[in-house]
Amino acid sequence: MTPFEAATYVDPYGYYARLRHQRGLSFDANLGLWIASGACVVEAILAHPDCLVRPLHEPIPAAIAQGAAGDIFGRLMRMNEGAQHQCPRRVIEPTLALMGTENIAGIVAQVVETLDVSGDNPNEWMFTLPVSVMATLIGFTSSQLQEVAQLTRDFVACLSPLSDEAQLGRAHCGAARLSRMFGELLSHGDKGSGVLGRLYRDYEACAWKDDDALVANMIGLFSQTCEATAGLIGNTLIAFQRNPDLFENMQPTPTLVAEWVAEVARYDSPVQNTRRFVARRCTMGGSVIEAGDTILLLLAAANRDPFANPDPDSFLLNRTQRRTFSFGSGRHQCPGQQLALAIASEVILALLHRQPALLAGTYRWSYLPSLNGRIPQFCRDGEIQDSRRAHE
Ligand code: HEM
Repeated sequence: MTPFEAATYVDPYGYYARLRHQRGLSFDANLGLWIASGACVVEAILAHPDCLVRPLHEPIPAAIAQGAAGDIFGRLMRMNEGAQHQCPRRVIEPTLALMGTENIAGIVAQVVETLDVSGDNPNEWMFTLPVSVMATLIGFTSSQLQEVAQLTRDFVACLSPLSDEAQLGRAHCGAARLSRMFGELLSHGDKGSGVLGRLYRDYEACAWKDDDALVANMIGLFSQTCEATAGLIGNTLIAFQRNPDLFENMQPTPTLVAEWVAEVARYDSPVQNTRRFVARRCTMGGSVIEAGDTILLLLAAANRDPFANPDPDSFLLNRTQRRTFSFGSGRHQCPGQQLALAIASEVILALLHRQPALLAGTYRWSYLPSLNGRIPQFCRDGEIQDSRRAHE
């Protein structure tokens, strides 16, 4: 198995443990990259100023460089360092914190009604609902939600090297249409006193003046939400199925569901790995890493490192001082962590309310093809599925 295959493997955690035991950081000659699996070294690399989010020679992947998706990609804080990272981050981070203080449960309930979501098949709603909640928070109308969610899914395909020509074509169209929609939203004279108004006032007050980058990073909010939060929801449904005893005699209260989601984020992360590109020779975990080298950081392996979390392979709701690397760390650490946990918890609660059988789900699932995401695709008994990849 390779660390890329591990992301969608039925149980990659024994493999990750072996990597950690061999060495927290090792060079994989077949893949031609460094693999970081220990908590300490993962944290050190994410904090290192010379370990960058993109290779210097290819700021935008060649496959999407000529098109609208590439234009957005190249402006995302997630994909930049220096001022192009810090300026949008200074505006977006407080916006996400403000969103977290809104009535997420109420917005989820409203969106579930608007989109007429039934609890039955999570495959659609686990993607559609989180993005629709973000879209509502930012000021899109209920009639725009379905379109915004679909366009976001189209756009995020550009982030995966596994996407084919047709998917990349849809990603460019999605990026162009989303840019127009955000442009229209921002062109309203009165942006109100809500999240959008605050975001725009913060933008105008700072020295950063780049309307295209602002729009790109607003689209980035949706793309960062889309797959990772869908995976968080999906992996929580799997955890319900795998640990029925933990729910016995318990009411799925908001606090309890929030504890499940937080532990799932650590135990079975929807984001299994991320990469860094070394700009200058440096020493890390006792190894010399050369400029131009690539490091694959196994966030999901670091979550299970006993140095970070005692008894790491147990699924424990009441962990004290849980260390979760699934949201990254250092300067690019996910600013949406609290909001994502809140949205995932409220979506699950709302759907449990509609469809209590979700808890006792008899799902089978495989994982969507990905090199870093762990996002289940569910099917009920009797539905056709590739038997080699289906788990239960
Ligand atoms: C409301 C949902 C979410 C929003 C709005 C959001 C937003 C963002 C943004 C804007 C960044 C870029 C930060 C930067 O480069 O400075 C980011 C990074 C990141 N996010 Fe999130 N995120 C969300 C959900 C999630 C979830 C559910 C996970 C995984 C459990 C996740 C994992 C990460 C990771 C690992 C990074 C850093 C990647 C790296 O450093 O290589 N995010 N997120």
